[in-house]
Amino acid sequence: MGDRSAFLWGVATAGHQVEGNNFYADIWLLEQVRNTRFAEPSGDACDSLHRWREDIEITAALGLNCFRFSIEWSRIEPAPGEFSEAWFDHYARVAAACRDAGLAPVVTLSHFTSPRWFAALGGWSDPEAPVRFARYAEQAARRLAPLVSHVITFNEPNLPLMGRWTATPLADATRAGLDAMLAEAARQSGSDRFGVWVYSRGEDDALAHLLAGHRAARQAWKAARSSVQVGMSLAVPDAQAVGSASGLAAYRQFAEAPFFAAVRGDDFIGVQTYGRILIGATAVLPVPEDAERTESGEEYYPQALGAAITHAHAETGLPVLVTENGIAADEDGQRARYITAALESLDAARDSGVPVVGYIHWSLLDNFEWRRGYAQHFGLFAVNRGDFTRTAKPSAQIYAREVRMRR
Ligand code: FCB
Repeated sequence: MGDRSAFLWGVATAGHQVEGNNFYADIWLLEQVRNTRFAEPSGDACDSLHRWREDIEITAALGLNCFRFSIEWSRIEPAPGEFSEAWFDHYARVAAACRDAGLAPVVTLSHFTSPRWFAALGGWSDPEAPVRFARYAEQAARRLAPLVSHVITFNEPNLPLMGRWTATPLADATRAGLDAMLAEAARQSGSDRFGVWVYSRGEDDALAHLLAGHRAARQAWKAARSSVQVGMSLAVPDAQAVGSASGLAAYRQFAEAPFFAAVRGDDFIGVQTYGRILIGATAVLPVPEDAERTESGEEYYPQALGAAITHAHAETGLPVLVTENGIAADEDGQRARYITAALESLDAARDSGVPVVGYIHWSLLDNFEWRRGYAQHFGLFAVNRGDFTRTAKPSAQIYAREVRMRR
């Protein structure tokens, strides 16, 4: 099973969800347009832009050894080709503070957000997109590679494909709302398009550009420092067939296979698992009537983690880094139970021989959960929305205890 002491135990955050005031990001604009599909705007988020030292301190105090954060492309490159040294310095300070606190910095280059100008040029549908992303990745590598332990190029780029596979009347209505919001953002940007990958239809040409961007970014980081571990994080639910297995096979072919092919040559596969999905002959099935549910209405199914990492390793041959796993829970006791059960399934997968290099819990803080706003509670710490005070929930201590037992 390898050297257990080197195993990463961490917590995850993402810039747009915790930093606050991410003005130049495409998603900030989507929150502001009159026909927005966001429940509320991100605003100050958790003010981590100013409170990142505290975030690092409370992580280290849990006895963890890893901290995942993202760097915000739109701050670093506010206009095409114009890079901000001051923002690079900021993220370098964050990474250095992690190291000083004994936390391996795991850095995401693209966690759903891109600069507004990138979206207004068509986002990933534009043939120049890979060159634009490569330029950003290369500049970031030059400044940050000496400090960073692992790099995640993209966060869950397979989400649009998962969404497209399950077209239902409800999904179609959601789609129409997203399209109208994107059209309004395009209009406000003086463009005829506003391409935001996570809210796109995941078109084939755009996907090819994105995967080219992944390869270019990997190359730039490996060239800057070959020991930096580079990978991509995918949404990998425990997908289970109900009845005929043909639906599951079609799902895997559509929403997973292109990504599993693209990570060949990476150092690890990032796996993000929240639960399971049941797949019938042609569609994802509803959550069983009698199932326990999470705050977001999904099925409570913590044991999904073991199956997901086993599957991702079998498909790619790569070591697995669990880059997200967690639960929206208003009632913190449910989160505590979830953590214990998820880690038991992780143990079982490791014992059966799956190489796993770390586990990063989503999330350190209750934060801005995208279109659902602040109503979902994924944090080990609550955040006071008035003064940003962080307060540990009992589940934070449960996680710390589970980690201590395994280190
Ligand atoms: C994942 C995202 C992350 C967070 C969790 C709950 O899909 O990567 O930013 O929203 O879900």
